[in-house]
Amino acid sequence: MSFKRFSRRQFGRIAGWSTLAMSMLPAGSGLAQSGADNRARNQPASSAFPSGFLWGTATSAYQVEGAVNEDGRSPSIWDRFAHTPGTIADRSNGDTATNHYHLYKEDIRLMKELGTKAYRFSIAWPRVFPDGTGSPNPKGLDFYKRLIDELSANGIEPFATLYHWDLPQALQDRFGGWTSRDTPKAFADYAAYVAQHLGDRVKYFFTINECSRLVHLGHGLGADAPGLKLPQSGLNQVRHHVALGHGLAVQAIRAHGRIGTKVGPAENAVSCIPAIETPANIRAAEMATRELNAGYLTVMMEGKYTDAYLAKAGNDAPKFTPEDLRIISSPIDFLGVNVYTPDHYVIAADNERGFTLAPFPDSFPHMKASWLRPGPEAIYWVPRHIAKLWNVKSIYITENGTSASDQPAADGTVYDVDRIMYLRNYLTQLQRATAEGVPVLGYFLWTLMDNFEWSDGYEQRFGIYHVDFETKRRTPKLSAAFYRETIARNAVA
Ligand code: NOJ
Repeated sequence: MSFKRFSRRQFGRIAGWSTLAMSMLPAGSGLAQSGADNRARNQPASSAFPSGFLWGTATSAYQVEGAVNEDGRSPSIWDRFAHTPGTIADRSNGDTATNHYHLYKEDIRLMKELGTKAYRFSIAWPRVFPDGTGSPNPKGLDFYKRLIDELSANGIEPFATLYHWDLPQALQDRFGGWTSRDTPKAFADYAAYVAQHLGDRVKYFFTINECSRLVHLGHGLGADAPGLKLPQSGLNQVRHHVALGHGLAVQAIRAHGRIGTKVGPAENAVSCIPAIETPANIRAAEMATRELNAGYLTVMMEGKYTDAYLAKAGNDAPKFTPEDLRIISSPIDFLGVNVYTPDHYVIAADNERGFTLAPFPDSFPHMKASWLRPGPEAIYWVPRHIAKLWNVKSIYITENGTSASDQPAADGTVYDVDRIMYLRNYLTQLQRATAEGVPVLGYFLWTLMDNFEWSDGYEQRFGIYHVDFETKRRTPKLSAAFYRETIARNAVA
């Protein structure tokens, strides 16, 4: 696959921007200025996002950083897993990934060109505590200080995730990772240290990214690190420990962060969509949201496992104390949700649960990844349900996006109109939510640039910048221009 280096003029051409406007841009900006500012002024208010809506992009440490052996970083469970034969579709790993560790300044330039004002990244625990606990490695945190300072110099607010699945391998070896209560405790110590040392630079922290995926794929199906296939009782206990880790980290950040530091989870809530928007189905979808997220958001927000959750688990229910539940439900400042796909279409029913879940027909479309069914209304309903169920006042969409085949055309451009179609429809539904007063404050597109997509290796590209994994060169796809235009208008382009 070969890419031509785009000139600003060429990039402007594919994005449909005027040569005049581009020529007014300072040299060196890869994305040209659009006529969007003018158009934004004509945008009917009803289609705009609220003023101050925060536009960002998201990545995670193991997926982008590379430099796995540098500056004292120790292996994580993902290094071990990816180097185990048979785990990753293209037999790759995150050893060099996109080399963000060294190219972060270039990446921040890309963010700036898009016009984003926020960046969600994750901190690699094994950089900060190579042994998981004990002596910190100052060089590990230094990288994040450099990154954050560069973000701040460019007017981009850092949103740091403490755990995006890269547990220090030492903790897996010593305690059995999340199967043990020692891991949530170690997580709290790490969170406290980060809050102490980065608290002057970071105001927004996410605790754990997608608890449910790390529990199910990592400990149930064995498809993610650490590759365990636990029986139901073990899986339920891991889920409880992960929730406990979230709560302990919230408390640690409160105790050690600066006043005004804000913290919340970044969860991939099970999304429940009313199959037809009737009051009865909407109510049923709310009940389904509460029940199907019982081990994660519901216990975090309510401080108890629902009766149905415990009844279903029976003898396999997790062991926990009332104090655990108090910790898990420590008050949070916002709720982050990753929204990719509708998990269930819900119909009201006269049964014990009050709902049934419609089966997905074979003909339901999907994006490049077979799991990624486009259902833009998910990004309307997920925040609406959580705002209603738990009276949440601040919500961030912490991830949304899609992979695409991303073949460059003869002129070298990636015309990823399928990704644009996906984003346009999701953002239209998100705007519907904000227009109705659902308190979504910001949106982080997944992802800035193609990166290591876990067990799919480099075969699923989610970026709006194409990465040549040989040269590590970044090139904007057409969707980068779409996002740039949307941000400039503060309305769907
Ligand atoms: C959610 C995960 O947080 C992220 O790491 C992953 O790349 C995306 N989903 C796409 O699968």
